[in-house]
Amino acid sequence: MFFDTAQTMKSYHESVMLSETVDWLTHERQRGGVFVDATLGGGGHAEGLLLAHSEARVIGIDQDDEAIRHASERLARFGERFRAVHANFRELADYLKGVELAGVVMDLGVSSHQLDHPDRGFSFMRDGLLDMRMDRRGELTAADVLNCCSEKEIARILWDLGEERASRRIARRVVEFRKNRPIRRTAELADLVMGVVYRPPHRRGSHPATNTFRALRMMVNDEMGALKDGLLAAWSHLARGGRLAVISFHSMEDRLVKQQFRHWAGEDEGGRLLTRKPLEPDEEETLCNARARSAKLRVIEKCGSEKKQEILEEKENGA
Ligand SMILES: C[S@@+](CC[C@H](N)C(=O)[O-])C[C@H]1O[C@@H](n2cnc3c(N)ncnc32)[C@H](O)[C@@H]1O
Repeated sequence: MFFDTAQTMKSYHESVMLSETVDWLTHERQRGGVFVDATLGGGGHAEGLLLAHSEARVIGIDQDDEAIRHASERLARFGERFRAVHANFRELADYLKGVELAGVVMDLGVSSHQLDHPDRGFSFMRDGLLDMRMDRRGELTAADVLNCCSEKEIARILWDLGEERASRRIARRVVEFRKNRPIRRTAELADLVMGVVYRPPHRRGSHPATNTFRALRMMVNDEMGALKDGLLAAWSHLARGGRLAVISFHSMEDRLVKQQFRHWAGEDEGGRLLTRKPLEPDEEETLCNARARSAKLRVIEKCGSEKKQEILEEKENGA
């Protein structure tokens, strides 16, 4: 499958907070170095970094083979300045072999392409098999979770990862359903949740199955575990002056990023928070791209011990 028009590139995924992220990462000292786009997706952020400086190189990582194929096609014109790696970003270190990075971007979650294609099974809006694997080499699907876990385990997943208040009721319904036949399709799950989760007619906004689908996706792809590991791997490979930019889309991810960044900005870790509060897309972007609405961008710089000392002294002197 090849993607050869500008429209196809845009429709694969519209990058969120593209210029802000690229600007934060390609500051004066680091423009021409090696960057990692840990969530390559449609290749938009990687392309932004490659265009920002003629000597910048980008290693693009994605666990989805379709993203790798699409972005490799889109970025082929950059020749050896771009390399695509089909892997989970938690394994970042395996592909760097001692390279010190000028910057890393992580634009979390799923791409529009993944959401919009029914055969990937991520969306309650499109009927398809309940798959939800970003990496299709993985064994566990969302259907496996729903058909093999106990009622208690399903409730815990929906509560812990989806913060779903009706977790127990939904789990009970799933177990009742599967007494007759296995639950296999996204539409079956969406209907089942809608039969349990009451939404007053005046409360518009998110679909009743949003939290359930997100929880299953996070479980199938171990998203919180991968994020923890990926942040540590990225930080340990950043050069002095290198920056890490993370775009998250829900509170659990953002909380984890915030806590980790705060830890690195603590006395002994040599990090400098560049965004004390997360940055959000402007109105123009949220009007054009509904998926940008919940985005939060945080950026930290690894400044090394001397710079850290300067910052501490500045703080002490009340500067
Ligand atoms: C929101 S999209 C990225 C879009 C991209 N920044 C762009 O501008 O087109 C997220 C991508 O990250 C990938 N992804 C999510 N978690 C990952 C992980 N742990 N390791 C590797 N890729 C991951 C998904 O497969 C998806 O393609």
